[in-house]
Amino acid sequence: MQRILSNQVNDLVGKSVMMQGWAQTVRAHAKVVFIDLRDRTGLTQLVITGELVEQAKGITNESVITINGTVTERPQSLINANIASGKVEVQVKEVSVETVAEPLPFPLTEEKVSEEVRLKYRYLDIRRKKLSDNLRARSAANEFIRTFLLKKDFVEVETPYISKSTPEGARDYLVPSRIEPGKFYALPQSPQQYKQLLMVAGLERYFQIARCFRDEDSRGDRQPEFTQLDLEMSFTNRDEVMELIEDLFTSLVKKLFPEKAFTFDRFPRLKYADTIKEYNSDKPDLRKDKSNDDELAFAFVVDFPLFEWKESEKRYDATHHPFTSPTPEFEDNFEKKPKEALSLQYDLVLNGSEIAGGSIRIHKPEVLERVFSFMGHSKEGIQAKFGHLLEAFRYGVPPHGGIAPGLDRLYTILLKEESIRDVIAFPKTGDGHDLLMNAPSDVDEAQLKELGLQLRPKK
Ligand code: AMO
Repeated sequence: MQRILSNQVNDLVGKSVMMQGWAQTVRAHAKVVFIDLRDRTGLTQLVITGELVEQAKGITNESVITINGTVTERPQSLINANIASGKVEVQVKEVSVETVAEPLPFPLTEEKVSEEVRLKYRYLDIRRKKLSDNLRARSAANEFIRTFLLKKDFVEVETPYISKSTPEGARDYLVPSRIEPGKFYALPQSPQQYKQLLMVAGLERYFQIARCFRDEDSRGDRQPEFTQLDLEMSFTNRDEVMELIEDLFTSLVKKLFPEKAFTFDRFPRLKYADTIKEYNSDKPDLRKDKSNDDELAFAFVVDFPLFEWKESEKRYDATHHPFTSPTPEFEDNFEKKPKEALSLQYDLVLNGSEIAGGSIRIHKPEVLERVFSFMGHSKEGIQAKFGHLLEAFRYGVPPHGGIAPGLDRLYTILLKEESIRDVIAFPKTGDGHDLLMNAPSDVDEAQLKELGLQLRPKK
């Protein structure tokens, strides 16, 4: 028999059905047992009477069961408008227990469970409506983004996760090479160089919902691995990229979050210097009413300084990343005017959070080389780190630019969550631990040997 789901039974009064799911609550009386059966669509009340009662009394909460039964209408007074199948119940004729559940480490109905416990038993936390709804909303939003961009002639391309360090200003996660002991791959801090190479390759419009890896301390809105909507376009300009993102997020919100109100009809474009002066921040919260979490204040920040002074290293570093183009008036003289030089970077801020960063890139190899060397890289260093990109740029590179919204941050705000962890299925703790898998963890001596690695004694 075909499996029937909770959101289908309302329409099946009088019919025989087979249902499967979790026994969320089992309420046993002397002659009748009620079970709330949970599946991916919601709850159905099961009614068990007669000779099945004794067997049903042994079913523990959260055991997985299969039943056959008949759908009947509930008496008017017992209709439950809160659940999908609230008008009906199922009179059980047969029940089999697929797996018995032991008592759970926390009751699924308990709201005050520590985050440590929720992360250790993430698969149980995801059984709860809040997290599973967030994952479904995330999936729907990702689908919206994909469809939107594919319709606009973008190509989705997957770029490598084990590769070479690419500078985004954080520490790299390194992966030792077995075949060449002593050498390392780095997990990408973003697909930045690959997407620029795809522009050299002539794809013109690329996107990817990509994981990025940055070994930095996690905070409320940071994870060591996080997801970007990464995109890049050729023959483009700053306005076109910003308009595309505005169109994408406006239509996404209108379709999937219709309850939201926009602070501004169009996303304003603020100059970096002005936002610093006015709000003392480059990611101001521009909502009119900050207590209303259904209000969305999107705004772009533009005209960032090209460089920032790094006192610890006594050198200038790129404000965004070294591939970002200076504005045309500073292309020839940024070395002489490093403090004044502006760049073609744009950030998107939302309710006080930076949710995207991007820029028009330097496409002239000689300008890129000048930027690297101004930032203090030696000729050999430039060759070793960026030789592949500079060489690619010598074979015909279109002008190009792009942007990368951080999807975890965007979804945290859209779903009105406090923490980025509540929109990620298996997040890490603030100190980078995966409490469920217990990572990071020790590895076998044999694995280290194979990689040519030896651990230093702990201090
Ligand atoms: P950037 O480094 O500004 O740009 O990152 C883009 C966006 O990614 C999000 N983000 C993060 N989200 C969660 N946890 C983190 N640790 C984290 N770090 C960044 C933010 C940020 O705005 N390659 C460039 C993009 C480009 O130039 O096209 C880049 O990665 O929302």
